[in-house]
Amino acid sequence: MSKNQVNNVFHQDFKIKPIDRQKRLNQKPLLIWFTGLSGSGKSTLANGTEQRLFQNGYHTFLLDGDNIRKGLNKDLGFEKEDRNENLRRIAEVAKLMMEAGLIVVAAFISPYRKEREMIKELVGEDRFLEIFVDCPLEECEERDVKGLYQKARKGLIKNFTGIDAPYEAPQKPFLQLPTSDWSKEECLDKIIGSIKEKITWI
Ligand code: PPS
Repeated sequence: MSKNQVNNVFHQDFKIKPIDRQKRLNQKPLLIWFTGLSGSGKSTLANGTEQRLFQNGYHTFLLDGDNIRKGLNKDLGFEKEDRNENLRRIAEVAKLMMEAGLIVVAAFISPYRKEREMIKELVGEDRFLEIFVDCPLEECEERDVKGLYQKARKGLIKNFTGIDAPYEAPQKPFLQLPTSDWSKEECLDKIIGSIKEKITWI
């Protein structure tokens, strides 16, 4: 779409406001954002977090890198520009889900600090909880659950995070979880314990 066409698009005000939806669901929306290397444990912890919240009666939705890249973002690759577009779209989707009143759990490598900042600004600083799934590259490579590190080392995959593409670790995350030292249950206890006061009922 050209810039002119964008300028001819107008924001519509809806009769049902986000606050009406929050009252209906009896919760405040939140974006719980897991970032880390491939194989660091993002998906496992995001799944576990959603499960615990859901079982406690919260209205949640999980967005995960591999799944989104098979659907909404299947036209995107792993060049810097494509990763940025991947995250821009996901941030907009997360924002819509939050407007619908949901607690959104997201697991994406999201390797660039600037893009994670963009997401925080888009959804609001107080509603964005960045969780750094901190596992050393050597350990991720050793686990190599999907066999991708081996392929990347052989040059069969280009722009692989940690190998020939960068990962910029968060400097002040809401939480930092050393998944090579802590068990899944220890990490989940820490996450739920830390976010409890953030996910207030209305
Ligand atoms: S990003 O950087 O946030 O846009 O990546 P994301 O959308 O989370 O997708 C990461 C998953 O894609 C697979 N994959 C790759 N990861 C990193 N680099 C390259 N080049 C690559 N190619 C494919 C991989 O399965 C990632 O999933 P996780 O769960 O992180 O292992």
